[in-house]
Amino acid sequence: MSASNLIDGRTIAAQVQAGLASRISQLAAKGVQPGLAFVRVGEDPASRVYVGRKEKACELLGIHSETFVLPETTPEAELLDRIRQLNDNPRLHGILVQAPLPVHIRQSTVYSTVSPSKDVDGFHPMNMGRLLLGDSSGFRPCTPAGILELLARSGVNTAGAEVVVLGRGNIVGKPLAALLCQKDRHANATVTLCHSATRDLPSHCLRADILVAALGVAEFVKASMVKPGAVVIDVGVNRVPDPAAPSGSRLVGDVAFAEVQPLAAKITPNPGGVGPMTIAMLLSNTVRAAEQFTA
Ligand code: GUN
Repeated sequence: MSASNLIDGRTIAAQVQAGLASRISQLAAKGVQPGLAFVRVGEDPASRVYVGRKEKACELLGIHSETFVLPETTPEAELLDRIRQLNDNPRLHGILVQAPLPVHIRQSTVYSTVSPSKDVDGFHPMNMGRLLLGDSSGFRPCTPAGILELLARSGVNTAGAEVVVLGRGNIVGKPLAALLCQKDRHANATVTLCHSATRDLPSHCLRADILVAALGVAEFVKASMVKPGAVVIDVGVNRVPDPAAPSGSRLVGDVAFAEVQPLAAKITPNPGGVGPMTIAMLLSNTVRAAEQFTA
């Protein structure tokens, strides 16, 4: 199949962001500029890159952002204090604490401390609970929301489809499975959530009309695991050694792209697929947080 089966995440993300520009203008007319706080703990190289991209996207769209970088050794209590300060700061409508966090910090405690009304990551238990209940008043986690948007805007019909999600993480797999099974126009799928204890994982993959790889294993999904004509969404970002690359390594997804692309009806490139959508949905959640703050 030709390159025309690519789901172009950059173009779709640009469409989402174009839709936000008019809402940002309406807020500006009321004297409000959406504001987003980034909190990064330690110097994880990937987190630095991700937060940098998100900062740049804010700047391009006219969203105010402030980044707080705390040392790797920061005590949990200090991080929680910082989050409470941000909860009380009226200039900042959204708060994103970049994962992964150092091991001495409890992720669940951190995400429970972010005010649900500023939780543009959608990780607070209240927003996760709303998601599970099909209550659209909460914030949806950015990567799962971005995947739904990619599918909808690419004309992929999820209703009644067999969707197989690989990976049960709290950031992607679990919330994505919950979203896709909702009785909703762009969901309504039959969802199978596979993980490290799943027996005969390839047999599940081969049933999938839509296969989402979010398990964090480089090029895990091979052509032999994909039903011809399936839609394949690759969430993975994995660094692998590559002696031919100037840096000695390169990034690959969870899908063996070269061998799977010819089989797929549609497939996300990586990079340029899910990643830009995660950022677009973060901006979307932030604009919504600002609108709700001013309402
Ligand atoms: N690390 C990887 N993805 C995400 C995300 O969507 N939000 C946050 N806060 N950290 C992440």
